[in-house]
Amino acid sequence: MGALNELSLKLYRAVMILPRAHSLQRVRERMFGPKNGRYSVDLNPPLPHPIDRQYGIDTSGHLGFNALRSGKSSDIYMTSYGGSQPSILRRTLRAIPDLDRSVFLDLGCGKGRATVVATEFPFRRIIGVELAPSVVPFARANAERIGWQFPERTPIEVIEGDALATAIPDGQVVIFFYHPFFRALMKKIVAKMENALKGKEERRIFVVYYDPVYGDLYDKSRYFQRFFAGNIDFEPFELGTGASCFDCQDTVVIWQSRGGDMAPPHPGAEAKLRVIPPGWRAEVMS
Ligand SMILES: C[S@@+](CC[C@H](N)C(=O)[O-])C[C@H]1O[C@@H](n2cnc3c(N)ncnc32)[C@H](O)[C@@H]1O
Repeated sequence: MGALNELSLKLYRAVMILPRAHSLQRVRERMFGPKNGRYSVDLNPPLPHPIDRQYGIDTSGHLGFNALRSGKSSDIYMTSYGGSQPSILRRTLRAIPDLDRSVFLDLGCGKGRATVVATEFPFRRIIGVELAPSVVPFARANAERIGWQFPERTPIEVIEGDALATAIPDGQVVIFFYHPFFRALMKKIVAKMENALKGKEERRIFVVYYDPVYGDLYDKSRYFQRFFAGNIDFEPFELGTGASCFDCQDTVVIWQSRGGDMAPPHPGAEAKLRVIPPGWRAEVMS
């Protein structure tokens, strides 16, 4: 990457992060990861998640931009790597009908924790797409380990690539995001989904957005309708394993595409979303 491109990438990321940040040190850590492998107090690295021991996989830790960058143009929008909470994902997936007819597509799968949880459900296919070449080998190794242990489960397919360039499979698709990228890229992805839905009654998309910081983009789209919204507590054994050591709950909102045979929304699905300053998390207001 040329020096000018590198500078504009850094400036863009600074503009995205700086105005809402608490401190320069926190900005630096959010943008590039910790210095000498150590975070400041409120960004202690998460404890290893018990799911790693349960399955003999490696999905824990937090990785910043420098550890993730791929050299592709979408790098500029990357947030960071951290795994979602399996208990929360399980609860939200149970809310969706017809999983046995669905493809699970994790756009920004990281080390693949959400795809591993998806194998506990009867999905038709499970696909993880990841931009960062540094974490793809983890996702692949984890997928392989699950395949050996549970040959009866749906295999995980890991694709190294850009969420934006990913084709949306036909039929019913559950698209999962755990706050993987900044607004500009999510906006392009919403437009891509809208195009995929145009005139295609048989296509049905459930968007599961974990930490839905840009949920307003789906709320504004006439192609999507709210299906579920909730702030969900961690299981006690997950405390300390979230993105911040103080986390004890995360928020998930699900939208379903409009048209055809729609499932009745869950109570509270329309609840208002609030982005919590400095802007890396969102919560549902009661
Ligand atoms: C917060 S992690 C989520 C990991 C996983 N989905 C989970 O829930 O455990 C977000 C991931 O998105 C990836 N990512 C960011 N931009 C991407 C893009 N344009 N295409 C694919 N992956 C991307 C990051 O590298 C990071 O690994």
